Amino acid sequence: MEVLKNKKTLQDFIERQKEMGKRIGFAPTMGALHKGHLSLYEAARADNDLVISSIFVNPTQFNNPEDLEKYPRDINRDILILENSGLVDAVYIPEVVDIYPEKAESQHYDFDGLENEMEGKSRPGHFDGVGTVVEELFRQVKPDNAYFGEKDFQQLAIIKKMVEKKKLPIKIIGVPIYRAESGLALSSRNQRLHEDRRDASKVIYKTLKKVNELFKINPVSEIKEKVQDVFDNQKGMQLEYFLIADEETLKETDFFYKGKNYRAFIVVIVDGVRLIDNMHLD
Ligand code: PAF
Repeated sequence: MEVLKNKKTLQDFIERQKEMGKRIGFAPTMGALHKGHLSLYEAARADNDLVISSIFVNPTQFNNPEDLEKYPRDINRDILILENSGLVDAVYIPEVVDIYPEKAESQHYDFDGLENEMEGKSRPGHFDGVGTVVEELFRQVKPDNAYFGEKDFQQLAIIKKMVEKKKLPIKIIGVPIYRAESGLALSSRNQRLHEDRRDASKVIYKTLKKVNELFKINPVSEIKEKVQDVFDNQKGMQLEYFLIADEETLKETDFFYKGKNYRAFIVVIVDGVRLIDNMHLD
């Protein structure tokens, strides 16, 4: 596996691969790799000649400096995971200056309102930061296909919108959420949970499955009350939000309209760790 530590080495590498006509699959990350990331590489492996990942903790997408500082970083462990997986041909580990040559600041995007829903309400500027770094990485890596986890479903929708608006010749592929045996969606933040809290967190997945059973035959307002009750009775957990939204617009719905696709979204704070999850409703 090639470890590319700056823009120049990446560019030389990409140029060689393009000359050989290789199809590039790309999965950007912020490191702290886990099996959820490996599922992105597996999907990329299946569709491309070459799989590239990046590891870059993007400062512009953190609206809280403490969160940026606390973000888990262990580059040697990550490189080892990538090497041992045998799924990745090259990893790009840029410095801040490779992505932001002048000043680490975001561009402003119009994602047709997707940015104002859910995470956009509690994390102002977050999606501008994501759009900025992903657009720059796309311009440098020049992938044919790019892979993002459905756990961050709003992020996935926003990246699809950016690619459409900027007319970038890249196909964006959403990869289903990778769950631990308990049902907990894998996330780098899970590292900050004590073992017993990780186990208790399976209630999040259980609740989403219950919501799927109740949806279409119960009013959304009642489902929301039931979800609130579940978390009111969980020690050390606070429900930040739960809602059901149209998968395309991400706008919250109070009703089920035939012909539309819906998804349940949830954010729970478990002992100070913010866990997000979602589920397609059928
Ligand atoms: O999902 C992530 O890890 C990040 O938001 C991404 C897409 C790598 C951009 O920094």
